[in-house]
Order: sequence, then C-alpha cells, then structure tokens
Amino acid sequence: MVLDGLRRLEYRGYDSAGVAVLAGQGRLAVERKAGRLSNLEDRLTEVGRDAFAGTAGIGHTRWATHGAPVDRNSHPHRDAANRVAVVHNGIIENFAALRAELEAAGVEFASDTDTETVAHLVARAYDGVDGAEGTAGDLPASMRAVCRRLDGAFTLVVTHVDQPDVIVAARRSSPLVVGIGEGETFVASDVAAFIEHTRDAVELGQDQVVTINRDGYHVTDFRGEDAVSRPFHVDWDLSAAEKGGYEYFMLKEIEEQPEALADTLRGHFNGGRIVLDEQRMSDQDLRDVDKVFVVACGTAYHSGLIAKYAIEHWTRLPVEVELASEFRYRDPVLDRDTLVVAVSQSGETADTLEAVRHAREQKARVLAVCNTNGAQIPRESDAVLYTHAGPEVGVASTKTFLAQIAANYLVGLALAQARGTKYPDEVAREFDELAAMPEQVRRVLGTVEKVRSLGRSLADAKAVLFLGRHVGYPVALEGALKLKELAYMHAEGFAAGELKHGPIALIEEGLPVVVVMPSPKGRAVLHAKLLSNISEIQARGARTIVIAEEGDETVRPFADELVEVPAVPTLLQPLVSTVPLQVLAAEIARARGYDVDKPRNLAKSVTVE
Ligand code: AGP
Repeated sequence: MVLDGLRRLEYRGYDSAGVAVLAGQGRLAVERKAGRLSNLEDRLTEVGRDAFAGTAGIGHTRWATHGAPVDRNSHPHRDAANRVAVVHNGIIENFAALRAELEAAGVEFASDTDTETVAHLVARAYDGVDGAEGTAGDLPASMRAVCRRLDGAFTLVVTHVDQPDVIVAARRSSPLVVGIGEGETFVASDVAAFIEHTRDAVELGQDQVVTINRDGYHVTDFRGEDAVSRPFHVDWDLSAAEKGGYEYFMLKEIEEQPEALADTLRGHFNGGRIVLDEQRMSDQDLRDVDKVFVVACGTAYHSGLIAKYAIEHWTRLPVEVELASEFRYRDPVLDRDTLVVAVSQSGETADTLEAVRHAREQKARVLAVCNTNGAQIPRESDAVLYTHAGPEVGVASTKTFLAQIAANYLVGLALAQARGTKYPDEVAREFDELAAMPEQVRRVLGTVEKVRSLGRSLADAKAVLFLGRHVGYPVALEGALKLKELAYMHAEGFAAGELKHGPIALIEEGLPVVVVMPSPKGRAVLHAKLLSNISEIQARGARTIVIAEEGDETVRPFADELVEVPAVPTLLQPLVSTVPLQVLAAEIARARGYDVDKPRNLAKSVTVE
C-alpha cells in the first residue's frame, strides 16, 4: 500500500525512495534505495517482502537538497537505536545548529541530510533526555516539541516502534493531507497517494500536527491546542491519476487540454458577468487597482507573460510580470492598490509563496491562480481562481499552462468589467471567444501526427531556437523550456525582433529554428516583420519550422516545415500554437530515449527556494 502511494507521488521527486514499516515485536523494517522507485521495489523483492508486513508504514520519494542522492541520504531517516523513522519534505533551515548541538551531546549522524536531525530530536524528546516537558513516552508531544524548534518549511511524518498503531505528521508551508478511509487512515503530500482508497480528505493548516490511527485522526497546533482543519471531497478519481492507456502521463495530459480549458472556464460567466471563485475582494477593490503584477515561475511565468498583453489591452492598467524568485529581493513598488496575481499549478512553489507573503506584507492584494484545491498559495491569498485541469502528473506542465492562460484572461476580464474599460457585451464576446477555444485545441490535437514525425527527425539536433513576436514570444519561451527540460537539448526562445541584436550569431547551417507566426490578417504588420526575420535566418542556413495560421499562403516559401493551426483571435493564439511545441518536445525526448514524465534533476513541486 505504501509503495502504491509512492508510485502516484513519484512525480514529486525521484532521486531515491524508501519505506519503513512497523513490523511488530518492536521491529522497524526499513529499506532505502537511490534512484527511481523501481530500484526500491527490486530491492524489497530481493530481501523478501514478508519482512515488511505490518499495518502502519511510511514511505518517501526524494528530490535531493542536502546530501547527494545516494542510499544513505535516502529517507526514512532513523535515530541511532533504530526506534524512530522520519520522512520529510522541505528544508530545515537551522539544521546545522541543531546538528552541532546533537553532535556535542554525542549523537552520531549516518547521513548528510537536514532530516536526520529530526529523527534524533524526536527520539530524545520521546526518551525524555532533552529536558522538554511532557514529551516522554508521548509521540505527538515529542513531535510538537521538535517542530517548535525548527525553522524553514517542512512536512514531517514520524513513527516509533513503541507506538505500532500510530503515525504522527506535521506541516509548515509544505502540503499535508489526511485521507479518511474505513478502518484505515492516510497522510500524504497529495491526495493522489490514497485516491484508490478514499476520496474523503482533510487538509491540515499551517503549523499543525496530526496523529492518526486506523480509526481516525486528531489535529492540534504546535502547542498541543486542538486545531481546526478543513475536510473536503476530492472531485476526481483514480482514473484521473492513472495513465489510461497512454505510454506517459504527459501524452495523456496533452490530449486532455480541451477538457482542462473547458473545465477552467465553466461557471465563470454567469448572469452576464464574469465571476471568480473565492474572492475576498469587492468590485470596488478591483476598481481601486492601479497596477498589476503577475508573479510565477517557469511555465506559470510564461502564462503571465501572455496575460500581460490581454490585461493591459482590456484594462489600460500597467502589468508587470516577474519571476517569483526575483520579485521580493528587488523591493518592488507595492501598495494596497496593487493587485498581485500569483500563478501556480501546485500552489506550493516556495518562490511564489514567498512572493505572495512579501506582497501581502506590503499591503498589496493577492489573487492566486492555482490548480490544487486548498494549497498554501491560495490559502494565503486574498482571492483565488482555480484552474480545473485535474491532476497533472508529468513534470512538464502542459494542460495546466493552457488552463492558466484561460484563468489569467478571466482575471483580466473581471478587472475590465469592474473598471468599466469594457462594455458588458464586449466582456461577453471575449468570454464567448475563449469558450470556443477547447474545440480549436481539439482540432490542433487531431493534426499533430506530422509534428511527431518532425520531432523524430530532430532527435540528433544539437540545439533548437524558438522565435516569436507579441503573444508568440512567450509561446517561443515555453516551447524552448519544454525542449530543455524533456530532451536535455540546448534551446532558447527569443523575441524575433531581438535576433539581429545578438542571437543571430547562433544561426548556422541546418540549425532548426521554430517560428511562431502571428495572423496575417489580425497582425499584418507584425506578420510582415516576422517574414523578414525568417528571411534573415534562412539566408544564413537555418532550417525553419513555422507554426502558422491555416490558409496563410504567404508563409509557405519561408517554411522548410510548415505546421498549421486554426485561425483564432490574436490574444488566443497561444492556446493553439503552444500545443505543437509540446508535442514536438515530447517526441524529440522520446526519440532520444528519455522518460518524458520524469526529466532528470527535476521535480513537479519545487517546495524549496
Ligand atoms: C515546467 O514544465 C515546469 N513544470 C515548471 O517550470 C513549473 O511551471 C514551475 O516550477 C512552477 O510550478 P507551479 O506552477 O506549481 O508553481
């Protein structure tokens, strides 16, 4: 059961995996292995799985922060007497001081991790040797006492051989959910781990500790006071968390994009008005906004770059788009009339969470765009708009990117509506155009076979460049990011107009260059300029792969390979032009023999800064 759960969470980290089972007679059975979960499974088969029979167990898959991804740094970590086992996500920032203190007390460490300090601290609190009051023989109290000493972000899960029916878990700024089954209870970072057993869950709040046994759970704060936690029912099932016949989750998730878009838009135009989800901001608050920031990382950041074009156009408000990891460190100008839109699929990205906190400290209002119900970022924001893309397991974001674009546009329309920069019938028209997009994306998906064979033909390329202008520019950046992370190939996205300011020096005979064309009708001037840009690179020997609107005959002479996408309004073009780039990256990666769901060195949720 623990291994099944880990399999569904492996997207969160796959440097190593481990399990610990309370196997009876005061025995803690532990096995850990570097590399993928399958290595651990092979190892368990080798040593005999019978040794791991029990009714309480914990497991972990790791994305290494402290210490190389080798067996001895893999979780669970234990105290010296092998009585306590701990798994941990996040970083314990004061671990060096804690480790020094423990070493001075004679504790020997077996790993290079920050996590191991917790195993020793819990064991010492439980044994009553560290002077903390009321912790001796009490595992939840020991956990609470230790948590009070920790700085940083963490989810911790602890077992003790003396308490074979109990598991204690705690969280600060890192996710933890409890699954309520019949005669069985679960804790995990994500409901996907226990979705085949129960869809009834409880989300823990900040700085809470939960004690579970087979019959239920009890939640307190770090001081031991009873605490309120939020029960919820998961609205998707096991099939959503499984591959459903696809070779990779990513391929399934690319195909799911029409539904992700439709589900994200559903219910947001009601009674002739745009309605957001949980909005602790009034229309007056939206009218008071004098500046918008979009903060996010990676693909979510690219969705923000696209949103800038729409929100500025619709609302006449200045929009700044900033990498969350840079935002708070440069002292941005924020006040109560600034709206910060924090975009995050997971809702737990540490960089984005810290940006949200910084914005709120400066009194700005924060609206989260998130795909994970009740995650930390929406919890700490003034308002939230959920993308309903369903679980995204492939590490490379695909369907959530399209859903983020749609959700960001809803935010733009809500602002335009409240501020009166668009008439109600104009807002309705924009929404209708958005609502027509799932069908257009479906059409693109019906024509990507050609892109697949193109991808296979590019498997040996050394590098690929991506060019675009206007909303095609962030699409080019996203295409390059997909290729980097999946195919480990040098890929760069550029604003095509910048080419002659430097990057054109990269062009050499046969270099594949992907160009995202604007519409010849909607953006005639830009279209003409991009044709000139293509001529410049063709003249220098580049192999041009052009993504262009159906029926755009003028582009043919400029395209060594032409990929056609449906004609749609300019601002919506990223929703169709991104799809072939996702397919292209996936195909190149597969042709090179890589696992597109779990690219090397990456993890789906980046919960450390
Ligand atoms: C891209 O494919 C990655 N998954 C990554 O760039 C991701 O978008 C980024 O880490 C932000 O994640 P979030 O949306 O969960 O905050």
